[in-house]
Amino acid sequence: MTLSGKRILLIISGGIAAYKSLDLIRRLRERGAQVRPLMTAAAQEFVTPLAVGALAADHVYTDLFSREDEQDVGHIRLARDCDLICVAPATADLMAKMANGLANDLASTVLLATNQPVLIAPAMNPAMWAHKATRRNVASLRSDGIAFIGPMAGEMAESGEAGEGRMAEPLQIVASIEALLDDAPKPLKGKTAIVTSGPTHEPIDPVRYIANRSSGKQGHAIAGALAHLGAQVTLVSGPVTIADPAGVNVVRVESAAEMLEAVTAGLPADIAVFVAAVADWRVAAAAGEKIKKKPGEGPAPLELTENPDILKTIGHHENRPNLVVGFAAETADVISNAQAKLARKGADFIVANDVSPATGIMGGDRNRVRIVSSEGVEDWPELSKAEVAERLAARVAERIAGKG
Ligand code: C5P
Repeated sequence: MTLSGKRILLIISGGIAAYKSLDLIRRLRERGAQVRPLMTAAAQEFVTPLAVGALAADHVYTDLFSREDEQDVGHIRLARDCDLICVAPATADLMAKMANGLANDLASTVLLATNQPVLIAPAMNPAMWAHKATRRNVASLRSDGIAFIGPMAGEMAESGEAGEGRMAEPLQIVASIEALLDDAPKPLKGKTAIVTSGPTHEPIDPVRYIANRSSGKQGHAIAGALAHLGAQVTLVSGPVTIADPAGVNVVRVESAAEMLEAVTAGLPADIAVFVAAVADWRVAAAAGEKIKKKPGEGPAPLELTENPDILKTIGHHENRPNLVVGFAAETADVISNAQAKLARKGADFIVANDVSPATGIMGGDRNRVRIVSSEGVEDWPELSKAEVAERLAARVAERIAGKG
């Protein structure tokens, strides 16, 4: 739980995006944070204090002049007894107050009285966001050290207008909070890493493709873990349905050929970890039109041709990263296959795992791997994919430090 024990004061101001704050509260609590909610009067027109309080499992603070609240906690304690204040959504009005030091309600008073980091997630109509007054306020708030997440480009909930002004999604806000509160050591600071993840889709015709069962869970977790140790990570991902890991640059591709191109474009890099389950074969000449079933005729033959081996290409590249890690998913002879791959593919180590259906590893949340390198074979116990990622990232950091 990445936010274990962290106390977040969540200020909800009055915008339609306040409905997303309900989900934000759940996401924060899932990660172990305590959420203390504070709502402006306008926010209560959009979502009820009852819903907010129930999700937060805490009292909802709304009134600067509430006798009970002032006696119990008081606005100065509210402002300081937290690790971070998050304002989501942050309206143009509340930002204007913050930028000018106004304090005429509980939210603005707390924001003026706090000595803790403040993150705001603006949400407003694109014309309001683009207005010179808001531009001035944004500049002042940034120079005052206020952190921003968003707003994002997209369609507005109420007007259908498109442009910049949509509030960031709850998980993006959570990732920002995690980054702001993260005081872990950063041994990979200044290093760049490329990670491949997920399956590839090899087209047969415009509507059909060859694929495999890779979920991307392990590769995405590794990309996130390297970023957590301070690396600047490019994640080249095949088609997956899982969320992007926090703090990484994601390049989305479909086929092995596109994956190789994206990886090569990411060079030079210090570290490369190839986790993707790249299809070994593609259709030699994918049809431009949907292949039709013809009555009385058998299935159309599929002529296959070998895909480029991305790991092997990069493992022997003139711009080879300092540390190259490959995976070996096998259903038999796991270790001998991995040992053969080390040299053939030019990897520093191979993370080998048994993906026989009985192990449930492919698509599952757990993994049991062995690290095969020139130094021998190391057995790791069964761990969650997140734990495998953390250990592997730590191992990468050690090796990089060792290589100077
Ligand atoms: O040869 P095999 O597919 O078992 O090798 C697995 C390792 O090689 C993984 O690290 C995988 O990401 C990588 N690989 C690749 N390009 C391919 C095939 C495998 O990068 N075409």
